[in-house]
Formats: sequence, structure tokens, C-alpha cells
Amino acid sequence: EVLERLAGHFELRSNQDDMPWTPESWIAALSSCQGALTTGADPIRPEQLASCADLRICANMAVGFNNFDVPAMSAARVVATNTPDVLTETTADFGFALLMATARRMTESEHFLRAGRWTQWRYDLFAGAEVHGSTLGILGMGRIGQAIAKRALAFDMSIAYHSRHRVESVPYTYFATAKELAAHVDYLVVITPGGAGTKHLVNAEVLAALGNKGYLINVARGSVVDQAALIEALQKKTIAGAGLDVFADEPRVPSELRLANHTVLTPHIGSATQQTRQAMADLCLANLAAHFEGQPIPALVPECA
Ligand code: GLV
Repeated sequence: EVLERLAGHFELRSNQDDMPWTPESWIAALSSCQGALTTGADPIRPEQLASCADLRICANMAVGFNNFDVPAMSAARVVATNTPDVLTETTADFGFALLMATARRMTESEHFLRAGRWTQWRYDLFAGAEVHGSTLGILGMGRIGQAIAKRALAFDMSIAYHSRHRVESVPYTYFATAKELAAHVDYLVVITPGGAGTKHLVNAEVLAALGNKGYLINVARGSVVDQAALIEALQKKTIAGAGLDVFADEPRVPSELRLANHTVLTPHIGSATQQTRQAMADLCLANLAAHFEGQPIPALVPECA
């Protein structure tokens, strides 16, 4: 339906086979285009910009835009847009669901049932961790972080956070570093932007501070967590478990993670409801149409000069 609406405005070059682009086919497709509708997995960096002289706008169907090199795009006079706000509540729902599923071992126990193993039940099997009344640490107190905190309040959780700056409008306890936050909480939920500024913000030291009763939940970007350190922490049980919707090198997920107990792993679906994906597509289309019609663009990336 979105492609049909796009076709009403533009001449389209789309990936008809529904196969991921290769780096070469991506550049080849872009090089004949004035605009692109991208997902967070489609890079727009100097390599692409160098071959795409006519490109004027890239509309990312994601709130995160770490796949864009925004300064290079600005220098090449390419507008960057994203899809903020429309996915905030849905992604917060998912982050909280992932926390609960991890704490209560929902997918591991479901696999056990589906494998016909219920007769092997023991009293302590799949004993998880309490969610209500526990302490939640939020790494990144932006729009989605604040929406996750609202959900946690209904579960009588105490809330603390770390972000680059203290957020004056929220009443939660602020910690100046990720490590201090991790040491204080039962659940550490990562919901920062990706990119160089947050790379490996959750490293071996932060995981050690989280400790063997602590859970890591990542609904941000795989790059924020040192994945090798996380695998080691899970294997040595120096943390209690992890709920991961994002990975260092998507769509590749190392077998050490796929085989780990006390984990829930999902394929980057934080904003994936029918309604929210529709709203994201609508906003992308509005961004593209506004640009070419010379109207104010609804969701320009703030860093876009
Ligand atoms: C998804 O990861 C997004 O940034 O919207």
C-alpha cells in the first residue's frame, strides 16, 4: 500500500526481489535516484554519497539514524529525515515486555513445553526474578526511556537513569556513569542512540557492576553493548540474563548467544506493530513528499544542517 502511494508521487526503483541489497546493488540503485526511503540497515555514508550526485533526501524508516553520516550528507546537500514520536509508546511496550519475558524466562519455558518436556517439570524449574518492586536502570532518558519509566511505575519499580545530561523534567535518580547506575539496579535497560558516542558504553566493567543478580535489556543498538563481554558475562554467569532485540552485527547473531540460557533474543522488532509500522511509513512518505513539494519537512533529523 505504501509502495502504491509512493508510486503516485515518484518513479520508483525498489528491490523487487525483497532480498537485501548488496553494497554494490545498493549504490547502483541509489545512483539513479533523487530520494531514498531507507531502513536502519541501509548505509548512507561517503562511499554511497560519492556515487550518487543526484541524491537529495534520505527518509529513514526508523527513529535511530546511525546508518547515516549526517555531516557528510549535509556537505553533499542531502537531507536526512527519521520517524520520531510515532514509535515511542510501542517501543516502550516492547522494551518492558522484553524485560518481563527475560525475568520470567518465558521463551525458554515455552520451548520446553513445545518440545513435549513438561513431564520433566521440577519445582524450581524456570524460577525467574521478580519484576514488581525491583529497581530499574534506564540508560538513555529520551522519549522512549521516559515511556519505559512510566510503565515501570505501575509495577512499583524504583527508577534510576544515566544519560549524557541530567533530565530536569523527570523525578528519577540520576547517576553520572553507566557503571554506577548498573551497580544500583536489578534491570539495566539500554535505550540510547547508537553511533560512535555510545559505542560499548556497556562494557565488561558495567556488566560486572550489574552483577550476577542483574539483567541487561537492549532495545537500542547492538553497538552500545560490548557483545564479546556480554557473551563472557552470560557464560560465566556474572550477570543473571539478557533480553536482546539488537545485536552488534545484524542479522548475524553468534551461536554463543543463540545457545545461552537466561536470554530472550528477538530480531530487532521493537517498533513492529501493524499500526506503528504504518505510522512510520506514513511519516517517511510525508517527509519525502514535503521535500519535493518545497514544504516544511515534518521530521528533519535535528543534526541535519
Ligand atoms: C529502530 O531501531 C529505530 O531506530 O526506529
